[in-house]
Amino acid sequence: MARTMSAETMAIVKSTAPALQQHGLAITTRMYERLFVDPEIKALFNQAAQRSGEQPKRLADAILAFAKNVDKLDVLTSAIERIASRHVETHIKPAHYPAVADALLPAIKDVLGDAIDEQVLAAWGEAYWFLADVLIAREAALYAEAA
Ligand code: HEM
Repeated sequence: MARTMSAETMAIVKSTAPALQQHGLAITTRMYERLFVDPEIKALFNQAAQRSGEQPKRLADAILAFAKNVDKLDVLTSAIERIASRHVETHIKPAHYPAVADALLPAIKDVLGDAIDEQVLAAWGEAYWFLADVLIAREAALYAEAA
């Protein structure tokens, strides 16, 4: 069963949209630095799209869109569909999701520092797993269709 988000979490995540607008790219660039310490994870990614900054930009845009629309997720349907199909093409599995959480949340802290407190970080932790569950469910359906 997919996790849910409390109204408070949604409000906190939404309130971080301006900070993400300003610092999103720095956060995702830092996130990939943390993520790619694991060579098996690094090998899943097209490194040209990292070097050009394209993939950190795509992820920053996706996170910002999620923060802005966290209370009306139907706006994100086509974005979620695109991400899930790209994940299926690159063989992403549910077991990969904790590594991204463990890279993204500290990266938010690295970049925003004292501007972010524990409550906001905890809200983002909850929001990450909410979105992860949506993607994992869609990816499971796509893998099943392909099988
Ligand atoms: C909530 C979590 C996640 C979000 C929001 C997310 C978001 C995205 C986005 C926006 C893209 C670009 C799609 C496009 O081509 O337009 C993407 C691609 C990709 N994602 Fe994720 N992702 C998440 C989790 C993961 C995880 C757990 C992994 C594996 C460790 C992963 C690996 C990839 C790979 C390999 C690509 C293709 C990148 C390339 O072209 O090199 N993602 N993801």
